[in-house]
Amino acid sequence: MWNFDEEINREKSNCIKYDWREKVFGRSDVIPMWVADMDFRTPSFVTDAIRERLTHEILGYSFRPESYFDSLIKWISLRHGWSVQRDWIEFSPGVVPALNICTLAYSDHDSEIIIQPPVYTPFHRAVKDHNRRLLYNTLLETPDGWIMDFQGLRKMITPRTRMIIISNPHNPVGRVWRRDELEQLVEICFDSGIIILSDEIHSDLNLPGNKHIPIASLSEKAAAITVTCMAPSKTFNLAGLSTSSMIIPDSALREKYRSVLEGLHLHLGNIFGNVASEAAYTYGHEWLDDLILYIQGNIDAVITYCSDHIQVIKPVMPEATYMIWLDCRQMGMSGNDLNRFFIEKAGVGMNEGSLFGPGGEGFMRMNVACPRTVVVKALRQIESAING
Ligand SMILES: Cc1ncc(COP(=O)(O)O)c(C=O)c1O
Repeated sequence: MWNFDEEINREKSNCIKYDWREKVFGRSDVIPMWVADMDFRTPSFVTDAIRERLTHEILGYSFRPESYFDSLIKWISLRHGWSVQRDWIEFSPGVVPALNICTLAYSDHDSEIIIQPPVYTPFHRAVKDHNRRLLYNTLLETPDGWIMDFQGLRKMITPRTRMIIISNPHNPVGRVWRRDELEQLVEICFDSGIIILSDEIHSDLNLPGNKHIPIASLSEKAAAITVTCMAPSKTFNLAGLSTSSMIIPDSALREKYRSVLEGLHLHLGNIFGNVASEAAYTYGHEWLDDLILYIQGNIDAVITYCSDHIQVIKPVMPEATYMIWLDCRQMGMSGNDLNRFFIEKAGVGMNEGSLFGPGGEGFMRMNVACPRTVVVKALRQIESAING
């Protein structure tokens, strides 16, 4: 029903993924498989809602109506089985702003904040940019995939440790954290008085066979210490509308969050973000189910192609997201050399693994949220660069 195969020219639309290629890669012709947005058309139920709002031609200050909250609550209940109360929900103008707001709200200059690399680069920045101490609890790579290092975590916690930021599902390694893993994390954090900031922006993009569990939904203990970020921006490709939600069951944590948000005057949001989110959460189920199958098809295409033709690259099968973590260590290059190889020899622009911190060296992150023809073209170019 939805045509994810359509190749849409995004050039000259002030779009970072395409129009910043020269600036980021030094070449404007690389196939852009980097920044996390999708090359698919925004679904018509979202664009129709925006058009409908535009029939009233005054765009002054606006607020989020109750129908907005209802749509979000229903979405989370249906997709993730979590019953969220209306007054737990706070606004954020994006998840990265929320990570920064939480750093300001829940820590001070003496505080330590833990992240689990290799992980999304703005996690590092959200701690460092505010001069908090950043502690790395590096994920462990095992034959069964990447896991959290609970022993390491227990050892590194000190009385100054205030918060851990987790990515669930995890960008870039693609893990959907299982119940037992999340339960262990809650036990450790609860006992040590540590807040869990759970970035669940990719939670709607769990691939077939994988179930997302919002960590705050596990127990009362979990809810008491968790601040959750959710957003329609990855799911429906609405990142340019800067609209996301924070779910904070504990009233004291919520109050602290709100005071920083309002102190920065960021609480109002924007009309189109509100309208688009509500439409997406109200009408988006079927579209999303189709999208997930299409993405799984692209992931399978990469895995099959690499195993048939590019054996030096070992893709890690993601459990969620449209990102594939490519293990390129057998290519014998890392860091800048590896990145330059893909840009200059293959003409493919991806994110180089060491940008995600320890554990990322020798990997590349490939974004496959694009028509399959583009994925195959990129794989062919990579194959001939390696053979050449
Ligand atoms: C884990 C994670 N959090 C947050 C974001 C971006 O959030 P926002 O655009 O809402 O600031 C991304 C985008 O790639 C992401 O992967």
